[in-house]
Amino acid sequence: MSGMRMSPNLALNQLVAERQAAGEPIVHLGFGESRLPAFAPLVERLAAGARRNAYGPVAGSPGVRAAVAGYFDRRRLPTGPDQIVVAPGSKPLLMAVGLTVPGDLLLPRPAWNTYAPQARLAGKHPIAVPIPEECGGVPDPALLREHIRAARTLGHDPRVMVLTLPDNPTGTLAPPAMIRELCAIAEEEDLLIVSDEIYRDVVHDPDTPYLSPAEVAPDRTVVCTGLSKSLALGGWRIGAARFPAGPWGEWIRSGVASVASEIWSTLPGPMQEVAEYAFGEPEEIRERLRVSARLHGAVAREVHRIVVGAGARCRPPTGAFYVYPDFEPVREELDKHDVTDSASLSRRMLDLGAAVLAGHLLGDEPGALRFKCATSMLYGENAEQQEMSLAAENPVALPHVRSVLDRIEASFQRLL
Ligand SMILES: Cc1ncc(COP(=O)(O)O)c(C=O)c1O
Repeated sequence: MSGMRMSPNLALNQLVAERQAAGEPIVHLGFGESRLPAFAPLVERLAAGARRNAYGPVAGSPGVRAAVAGYFDRRRLPTGPDQIVVAPGSKPLLMAVGLTVPGDLLLPRPAWNTYAPQARLAGKHPIAVPIPEECGGVPDPALLREHIRAARTLGHDPRVMVLTLPDNPTGTLAPPAMIRELCAIAEEEDLLIVSDEIYRDVVHDPDTPYLSPAEVAPDRTVVCTGLSKSLALGGWRIGAARFPAGPWGEWIRSGVASVASEIWSTLPGPMQEVAEYAFGEPEEIRERLRVSARLHGAVAREVHRIVVGAGARCRPPTGAFYVYPDFEPVREELDKHDVTDSASLSRRMLDLGAAVLAGHLLGDEPGALRFKCATSMLYGENAEQQEMSLAAENPVALPHVRSVLDRIEASFQRLL
């Protein structure tokens, strides 16, 4: 473990906090936290759950598992409560899946910065496959087979494929046809699919077609989700996993429950109270999800406009709260400022007042001029402003949102 370092997004978060405390006016675009107030009915549920101080079942109480099963039922994934495990966040669930199933891990490149270190912690080799032109979160189907062959030739054993739908870091959602293609390859190559759907309820346009690989390859897909992103509850740590019905799924589920029993025991009782209510999706929660996705989309599109205006090419964001610009078209101009790779590019952005997460920290090629901008902390300085942002039909016109977008635009305009 001596080679382990702190997760780069958390490390950047600390650095930015220090520089901001020292008086530097830095806009934080490097951390994927949904900076919105906890929704009042959720706070009420948390208080109501405070007396739930018993350990309770490892996988979660029958009530919370039934609520999560219902959540999946409403998304075309018929689910029994015995297919569900809840946990303190989806991070530990993803880790527990990695500790349970054998073989190495196929990852999109770039990908969320936790998958590869978790794979190494579990003794797995991460095999990065470039993402397609049109979207991130998935290995390019046209390259996947050859990467599997090459990995096997090198003695690796790719058996698990991670998909992020929608994606962190590109803020895009793979289309249904591509999901079908990837599922067909998973069948041929006998891969388990881990579908990270934590941003599923943050698809910006409700009419965007969404296909989970669990609909296409139900026997070989584990789905992870949680409330950190859609309901801005990162610090409450509520995650859930759905395992396939049948013997393979049950074998993985019981392995994950064993890991849980030895590490975190169970999701804290008060959080089970919150999760049962939130995954039950009463009308007020559905409305909160709707306005949150609208806000995330409006601001992400605006940051996309800014980076494209600064000379980058960039996939238009359709989900989550990220954009992932590529400054290759202006490499020559950047070279004049000694910016030649993703590390020097992100350092220059920080000097210009915008903290971004360099692409190589997400597994991308170090020489590429790419980074991630998280756009979810631009909604206001306090709960009142953030609630105003949520309520607004056109949040980017609000003065407190506009002013921070203008600062970002000014930073990007000084880049070249
Ligand atoms: C793609 C992805 N999966 C999982 C997580 C972890 O979320 P949780 O708070 O449920 O551990 C994150 C958080 O950044 C994420 O971006």
